[in-house]
Amino acid sequence: MHVVVVGAGIIGLLTALELSERGHRVDVVSTGIAEGATHAAAGMLAPAAEVQVGQGPLWQLMREAAADHRALAARIPALSRVLDHPLSARDAGYREDATLVVGRDHADVAGLRDLAVLQRAAGSEVDELTAREARRLEPALGPGIAGAVRIAADHQVDPRLLAHTVHAVLGARGVGIELRSVEDLDALPGDRIVLAAGLGAPGIAGPHRALDLALRPVRGDVLRLRVPREILAPGEEHLLTGTVRAVVRGRPVYLVPRDGLGLVLGATSREDALAGTSAGGVLQLLQDAAEILPAIRETELVETTTRDRPGTPDDLPLLGPVPGDPRVIVSTGYHRHGILLSAWAARRTADLVDGHPDPLPGAVRPERFTKEDA
Ligand code: GLY
Repeated sequence: MHVVVVGAGIIGLLTALELSERGHRVDVVSTGIAEGATHAAAGMLAPAAEVQVGQGPLWQLMREAAADHRALAARIPALSRVLDHPLSARDAGYREDATLVVGRDHADVAGLRDLAVLQRAAGSEVDELTAREARRLEPALGPGIAGAVRIAADHQVDPRLLAHTVHAVLGARGVGIELRSVEDLDALPGDRIVLAAGLGAPGIAGPHRALDLALRPVRGDVLRLRVPREILAPGEEHLLTGTVRAVVRGRPVYLVPRDGLGLVLGATSREDALAGTSAGGVLQLLQDAAEILPAIRETELVETTTRDRPGTPDDLPLLGPVPGDPRVIVSTGYHRHGILLSAWAARRTADLVDGHPDPLPGAVRPERFTKEDA
């Protein structure tokens, strides 16, 4: 089939790659390449650490998505053979270090232990650690932490590196990538159109406008830091060996180490009136992070990025054909899990195009917030 993918965030890019791999003719149309939420995201592949009470239907998708990313990482060397320099999974941003989730005080740790019960029920392995054990694994953690859990299977990918890699592979495979805005899906060619335009979807005319997608922006401020080599002890390569998430008096914060001494600090989750970066949000992130990792005061702040996540009322994505017009497949609303769910979204969207008999879970139907459907 000829498939046009509208949007080139990580969802659109991976969907285009999967479709192209399956032999479809693919074109991508987008105002930019990975400039929205993908540009901000830390890229934690965290099906366990991001489990929240009351989000049962999401857990299964998150776990499937983590397996999809493992499969994608394993395919990177073969996929990148079309490039001048074939790449390893690490070159494309994948890292398999475990994730530590630290509690700042005893109430925070009690919350982590309660959550561990849910995480285990959802099939994840979670080890409970004392503060001393956590500091043995990550010696840069502050002396004031109260305890932690370790989640071996929660990994990370650098979304910018992955998007860059996939964009390059698409180009080398001859996938058309047109940089322009789309006003109306009906004006596009294609046997199928995948609408992966994030929060931009409702602003584009087309049959999906009959649906209430109920999307809303959930803004996130993310800081990028650089660790000066001089502050590392002899033999150390970084301040952290893996992702450290923390709960600091009930507030979540995360620190994701990158190759080349980068450190990503995130993220606020705001629905206030500020269009740009929140000074209070940045202050809170730095203060909370400094309680967990005191040496953060000695790092260089190299970038502050604010982007909107495409949120939905039930925190589940919107994936599926528009009822009555299956030419258009909606794929947006990935909220706080866009990077994790991207490989899953790509596979399931390609399954839809291929008419695969395995139905999508009803919980992600894009028409579920539309009144007539209720
Ligand atoms: N998944 C991390 C975030 O949304 O901040």
